[in-house]
Amino acid sequence: MSTRPSFGLSNFLLLVSWITFITQLCVAVEIDMEGLPDTGLNTSTWVTGQLPPLSDIWDLNDIQIAAKNVLSPRYYASYRTGALDEITYQANLNIWSQLRLNGYSFRNVSNINTRTTILGYNFTMPFFIAPAAEAGHTNKSAELSLASAAGKAGILYVPSISSTKSIEQIAAAGLPNQTMFHQEYIWSNQTRVIDELQRMEKAGFKAIVLTVDNTGVNGIRTRSLRYTGDEDDTGHDASFDLNSLANFRNLTSLPIVPKGIKTWQDAKTCLDLGFPAIYVSNHGGRVLDTAPTSVEVLLDIKKYAPEVFEQMEVYADGGVRRGTDVIKLLALGARAVGLGRSPMFANIWGEEGVTHMIQLLSTELQTSIQLMGANDVSKINSTYINTKLVESMWAQ
Ligand SMILES: Cc1cc2nc3c(=O)[nH]c(=O)nc-3n(C[C@H](O)[C@H](O)[C@H](O)COP(=O)(O)O)c2cc1C
Repeated sequence: MSTRPSFGLSNFLLLVSWITFITQLCVAVEIDMEGLPDTGLNTSTWVTGQLPPLSDIWDLNDIQIAAKNVLSPRYYASYRTGALDEITYQANLNIWSQLRLNGYSFRNVSNINTRTTILGYNFTMPFFIAPAAEAGHTNKSAELSLASAAGKAGILYVPSISSTKSIEQIAAAGLPNQTMFHQEYIWSNQTRVIDELQRMEKAGFKAIVLTVDNTGVNGIRTRSLRYTGDEDDTGHDASFDLNSLANFRNLTSLPIVPKGIKTWQDAKTCLDLGFPAIYVSNHGGRVLDTAPTSVEVLLDIKKYAPEVFEQMEVYADGGVRRGTDVIKLLALGARAVGLGRSPMFANIWGEEGVTHMIQLLSTELQTSIQLMGANDVSKINSTYINTKLVESMWAQ
């Protein structure tokens, strides 16, 4: 009588691990890196649709690729998309390589200060989380993890009025005494505007970031429209003009910061109207395609209306992925710099991912400041930057 050899537990476990390995090989797909800088990210062990370990993530571009791996193509497209041919979206990412930072030796950089104030409120870093709609498609915690991570890191968060969570829920997710501003759109329904402004004030937000760059319509975001079809009416007021802007201030006692300034003329207008700050932005390339980058707009303001920098605070965003990008905008006169997509993408891991993103950017910022021979963000000025290449191509 023949006895069958027993298969044994260890052989069984070996078989299971082989099957797992082969399955992973089958589902691990090569991810199109979209021309982002190649820093050696290896995604061969990642499984489509699953969160990669945070230990694989070394910079904000890695975060974007991880989000692309995890999110459905539809939702990845909705965050990632720019308008039309995405010329401005790409320009936002590429402009940094045309600017040079000057690094000075023989300076004491044993203590680095990155703290700053924004509208008089204290923050640990000169960068902040910009308003971005519907964080709920990356994580169930949506904006709550963004508020919490920002609060613990001591940076500013400006939630969007098109958030997944309500004004009150986001306010409650912050730390006690955490300073947040809130973004608002110019709805054609003024009752809605007044109601939202009152709720923001009551919930403890300290300023209103009023987006003025997509009045009436959104940009045509082809990459995203392929999944969604034509988007609904924005509900924004297309008749909003200079008088409306001036009068808007009567609707709230909070300071108002117009966001989406794309020309030096509009910057000067806001100064003349007495706004305390402006926010230079092309909405991450999602509104007017071929609009200039913030770098170019800041250069124009410096040339044609330098008093803007002396008399009001200027914030800027668009394509900021590196500590050196933050520094370049500071050197061009910005006081604080916003991040749109990166915190949204980092939220695939929830608060832990957003915290990791803030830490990566903080480290890059601190290291680069030190290497430039500067010891304080408030001292970063035009002596630290060479803009000749951009200026030779961008002369108005
Ligand atoms: C998915 C997404 C949603 C956005 N939603 C808003 C919004 O609701 N209000 C707004 O003022 N800006 C919005 N923005 C623009 C951002 O505030 C910011 O200006 C831009 O994303 C910065 O560029 P970056 O993504 O390259 O960092 C959004 C941007 C993205 C990517």
